[in-house]
Amino acid sequence: MSRVIGLKCRECGAQYPAIIQNTCYECFGPLEVNYDWDVISDQIDKKKIEAGPKSIWRYADLLPLESEKRIDLGAGFNKLHHAQRLGAALGLDQLYILDESVNPTNSFKDRVTSVAISKAIEFNVKAVGCASTGNLAAAVGAHAAKAGLPAYIFIPATIELGKIVQMLVYGPNVIAVEGTYDDANRLASEVADSHPDWAFVNINIRPYYTEGSKTLAYETAEQLNWQTPDHIVAPMASGALLCAISRGFNELEQVGLVDISNVKISGSQPLNCSPISSAVQKNGEVIPVRNFETVAHSLAIGNPADGYYAKKTILDSGGFAATPTDTEIIEAIHLLARTEGIFTEPAGGTTVAGLKKLVESGHIQHDERVVVYVTGNGLKAQDTLLKSLQRPPVIKPMLGEFERLSAPKLDIHKQQVAPIINS
Ligand SMILES: Cc1ncc(COP(=O)(O)O)c(C=O)c1O
Ligand SMILES: [Zn+2]
Repeated sequence: MSRVIGLKCRECGAQYPAIIQNTCYECFGPLEVNYDWDVISDQIDKKKIEAGPKSIWRYADLLPLESEKRIDLGAGFNKLHHAQRLGAALGLDQLYILDESVNPTNSFKDRVTSVAISKAIEFNVKAVGCASTGNLAAAVGAHAAKAGLPAYIFIPATIELGKIVQMLVYGPNVIAVEGTYDDANRLASEVADSHPDWAFVNINIRPYYTEGSKTLAYETAEQLNWQTPDHIVAPMASGALLCAISRGFNELEQVGLVDISNVKISGSQPLNCSPISSAVQKNGEVIPVRNFETVAHSLAIGNPADGYYAKKTILDSGGFAATPTDTEIIEAIHLLARTEGIFTEPAGGTTVAGLKKLVESGHIQHDERVVVYVTGNGLKAQDTLLKSLQRPPVIKPMLGEFERLSAPKLDIHKQQVAPIINS
């Protein structure tokens, strides 16, 4: 028996076979994968998962693939760090960080891409593609290379140089578009419409693509001994990641892998581009924004495809949303690096800065078990980070020169929080 029944409209419930399609013909609502949960519950068990591959594919029974042929660079199975020093700095007793910077192309986008391109292979497509704020581009470039498929990648022209270098190395066709992500996405959607045998991972095969991010919830629960956290904080651009994490926790309860899932879901967006967070804060509509500028390029989506659902997921769960400034985002990158040894890009800075604000405003309680998703690697955004760092002093290789350096010059890595001795 197949685990996948097909696709289903999130709005009117209309059903479709599992084909290349992302919108309902009846009501234009977005489609999602429709699983047979009885079949999955019969097949799944903890021992089978724990004996599985050390990647997202240990959760294959909860993913929408029909065949065993996978495009797998090893995404997932990343460490859930017990972040004691950052927790102490923020006043949290039990803080954990799932570090996604160590994925094959250094962001969580390897999860969604591995699932989407594996599905694209099942559809026998001629090419793959995406619209990207930077991280998805590298993930699609790498997985397309592994699959031996041409790739067409549309990005806003102004993203970080480090991300452009990385995506180009894998050899895809990269098209830099004048304007924002929303402009690049509109063009990519038109290209997808005119090439029905090309799979654009976050456009015409989006229902399968978003499923990859559910594995973040599965991995979190598995590493917490098959328990769910009290509260999570995730970054938001389109809002798809946050919705998928929430769905993942609920599914674990549905198939009996956790006893109860009652997770508060909170999100964070940069103040300068925060259509979802602002809607949560006002309990109003998600209003698209234009003409924004923020250091958090990877989160700079003005018209978020899953904005409505992300806002609903947050408010229904009892969570909230934060809007840190660019300065707070950069400060949070330094705080995370100096307390936990994790170097993240501005998306991760947005999440940690958002966490700080949510604790300060009382939306996250000090005794809650909190998991934060750090979704991308700081090495990709060096041009942004360099502006906030002092270059090291240059001296001749002589002891006297070293001794002559005044103390403040050596203070560039000054501790900003009290050290904690791990017992
Ligand atoms: C590093 C990073 N984190 C988070 C996100 C947000 O993902 P979503 O669009 O699913 O909300 C992105 C999107 O590009 C990203 O690159
Ligand atoms: Zn519909």
